Amino acid sequence: MAATSLPQRNARPDGLPLPDLYARVSRHIPAIEWPALAPDIEAILRLKRERNAVILAHNYQAPEIFHTVADIVGDSLALAREAITVDADVIVLAGVHFMAETAKLLNPNKTVLIPDMRAGCSLADSITAADIRALRQKYPGVPVVTYVNTSAAVKAESDICCTSGNAADVVRSLGVPRVLMLPDEFLAQNIQLQVPEVEMLTWAGHCEVHERFTPDDIAAVRDSYPGITVIAHPECPPDVVQASDFSGSTAMMMNYVTQKRPSQVVLVTECSMADNIAVANPDIEFIKPCNMCPHMKRMSLGNIRHALETMTHEIIVEPTLAERARRAVERMLAVKPTAAPTPVLKS
Ligand code: 13P
Ligand code: SF4
Repeated sequence: MAATSLPQRNARPDGLPLPDLYARVSRHIPAIEWPALAPDIEAILRLKRERNAVILAHNYQAPEIFHTVADIVGDSLALAREAITVDADVIVLAGVHFMAETAKLLNPNKTVLIPDMRAGCSLADSITAADIRALRQKYPGVPVVTYVNTSAAVKAESDICCTSGNAADVVRSLGVPRVLMLPDEFLAQNIQLQVPEVEMLTWAGHCEVHERFTPDDIAAVRDSYPGITVIAHPECPPDVVQASDFSGSTAMMMNYVTQKRPSQVVLVTECSMADNIAVANPDIEFIKPCNMCPHMKRMSLGNIRHALETMTHEIIVEPTLAERARRAVERMLAVKPTAAPTPVLKS
């Protein structure tokens, strides 16, 4: 699925005059709000040059971050891949803590900053390194596949990582009959349908954003908008994914929309996704029952500016732990992606 997880490079946001940047987001940011945002945007563009910094932003970032100051945007897989090749001195990760930590693991000589250290993730919080060690004792010899939405300490105890963009490929690559697929129970159950030949032992971790969607939500949208295309993130419960037309990582969702061009679509995921895709696709109608990720939304233009002004908050990972964690991430990155995007497989 390489093609479906490619990052998007913003067309030199620092090379555009402010009015042109506003034109990009004018459908999502009222003109009356722009004068309050513009000084931070201008300062960030200047500070990036002065600090030789790049901003990597996740697809869930608000449009004023995603479309005006970010240099590279993408899903977790794309951001990890891009972090390796960054040659700027400083990486600012506009996303959540595990993403910044992964960037640091993969490019340890760079200064990696996260504008707010409290930007966590309910999945990362659901499991500890001690939990993994206990599971290994209970299931000796069963490989541990961990979602990148985990701490470096958990990655260090794992055999290999995966993201929502490559989980099926990672599991198949192991060539074993059973894996511990941790910590996202729903992702594991959804991937189980794509890889029925491998038994997946799961953990009861959930994304607090996606676990709240229900099949009734999907039915209600289909009733109100006959013919609508429904796309769900694989962190949603399996009955929600089953009720959808397509499921994939945030980058796969974006690519599906831009390639298939449905006239009406609902993205069953975090709120900013629809706004961010809509900027480049004004002809597509996005219906927006969505849930907000409070961790992703800790990022703001104000704290990105502050991060670059003060060079805080720096991600530090203890070198021995980092080396073990890096191995699990690098094994994931070495897995050859399959060519075709994966449709929802009905059970
Ligand atoms: P993606 O890897 O699909 O971007 O997802 C990350 C995430 O945190 C989704 O909730
Ligand atoms: Fe974590 Fe869910 Fe937020 Fe993604 S959306 S960062 S999985 S809590």
